[in-house]
Amino acid sequence: PFCFADGKFIPTQDATIHPTDLGLIRGYGIFDFFRTVNYQPLFLEDYLDRFINSAAKTYLPLPYSREQLRAIIRELIEKNDLKQGGIRMVLSGGVSENHFSPAQGKLFIFAEDLIFPSKEKYEKGIKLLSLEHVRPIASIKTTNYALAVWHSHIWKEQGAEDVLYHQNKYVSESSRSNFFIVKNGEIITPSENILLGITRKNIINLAKVPVHIRPLTLIEALEADEAFITSTTKILLPVTQIDEQKIGNGQPGPVSMDLLDRFKKLES
Ligand code: PDD
Repeated sequence: PFCFADGKFIPTQDATIHPTDLGLIRGYGIFDFFRTVNYQPLFLEDYLDRFINSAAKTYLPLPYSREQLRAIIRELIEKNDLKQGGIRMVLSGGVSENHFSPAQGKLFIFAEDLIFPSKEKYEKGIKLLSLEHVRPIASIKTTNYALAVWHSHIWKEQGAEDVLYHQNKYVSESSRSNFFIVKNGEIITPSENILLGITRKNIINLAKVPVHIRPLTLIEALEADEAFITSTTKILLPVTQIDEQKIGNGQPGPVSMDLLDRFKKLES
């Protein structure tokens, strides 16, 4: 596979990063991740908006314009014959004289194989473990997932698929996805301390029932009729258990599965 690094297309295995890059020594960088469907990048403009915004908010100058990024992505899809795949754009903090202040970020754009959840998870739903935590600067897609990775041993030990973050009674999101519930035929998704997921946005737009975007308590989540998480690779994965509490009747719910069906139609 080919990647774009240091301003050119090179074999991915030949890409290098300096050992003092802030991404490596301070966990400072941003990224974004999207899919291709039949060689077309899905919702590319939304992902570019978010990536450009993350760069600006972290004071990392992007060395390419939006048009240039688009052209690089098209060429990368062609070079990798990427019919169905993932593309990750990473802007690492770059080398800094004082090993602290961001200077010139370093951009990598590369193709990745997609890892989808198993069919069984869509059929049975998954368990989330609630965990008291709020992601710092949650609206920016930083590369800092240190706590998320570190937490993963806790939820794995408890037989959960992932985590549901909450703080001061309010839930926000999962480690790499957004969270929704369905209650009395209406959809609710948290408004605060979240990454504004592109999948979340599309699911909200597809909904045929009222959607409320507002602070959501952990108690409301536990008492929901249905729950699900959304992300680029999971699309929509039903949540049938939170901690020891079954959600609704413990099966993926009709509103969730209808949304998943309609998202898939949007794609094809
Ligand atoms: N994760 N919240 C967080 C913290 C995320 O990291 C992600 C995406 C989402 C969902 O956003 P979207 O629908 O735009 O993918 C929400 C990506 C997939 C990752 O970690 O690779």
